[in-house]
Amino acid sequence: MSHKRVAILISGGGSNMVSLVDSMTGDHPARPCLVLSNDANAGGLTKAAERGIPTASVDHRPFKGDRAAFEAELLKPLEEAQPDIVCLAGFMRVLTGGFVSRFQGRMLNIHPSLLPKYKGLNTHARAIEAGDAEHGCSVHEVTAALDDGPILGQARVDIEPGDTSEALAARVLVWEHKLYPTVLRRYASGDRTPVLLP
Ligand code: GAR
Repeated sequence: MSHKRVAILISGGGSNMVSLVDSMTGDHPARPCLVLSNDANAGGLTKAAERGIPTASVDHRPFKGDRAAFEAELLKPLEEAQPDIVCLAGFMRVLTGGFVSRFQGRMLNIHPSLLPKYKGLNTHARAIEAGDAEHGCSVHEVTAALDDGPILGQARVDIEPGDTSEALAARVLVWEHKLYPTVLRRYASGDRTPVLLP
């Protein structure tokens, strides 16, 4: 069987990347081909290398906000790896429509909210502030609009009285690590039916 090739883009610790990489064994239809970061010091790069995954980084800072120029460099190692699927996993740079369109229909993202609620940053604090009873995470196909695109899966987490954003983020992250591998496995086998957890 020929496996689907999965490139994973990260910016930090890469715990979601690890959950994806560690899921792609046995009869899984995909295998990791690259872990790519916009930060050479991202902790996730070491974790990927320890797992024998090729890694690369392109620092966004020298581009001083010129997103198209940054993305042109980012594309080089990414296209070289010839991914069938690109997973954004805690990748904290906003991508232009031009970049996204190259991977349209084969790029996924995990976002820490029950989309369409709380696109962007500080999602956990905003959910608490709003007095929501529940929060969670979503995996969606990436389109040109930020944190938009067809939802492929969601996991719900109750917000407890007195919750802090840190405590809530930690509980949501546990579900991110279940949701993303579940969605990727389905997606790699051509199944777009949304996953709902727990
Ligand atoms: C995760 O919670 C992920 O959902 C979030 O960043 C964290 C990365 O953690 N992503 C976003 O906020 C994207 N807008 P990780 O590096 O340990 O996977």
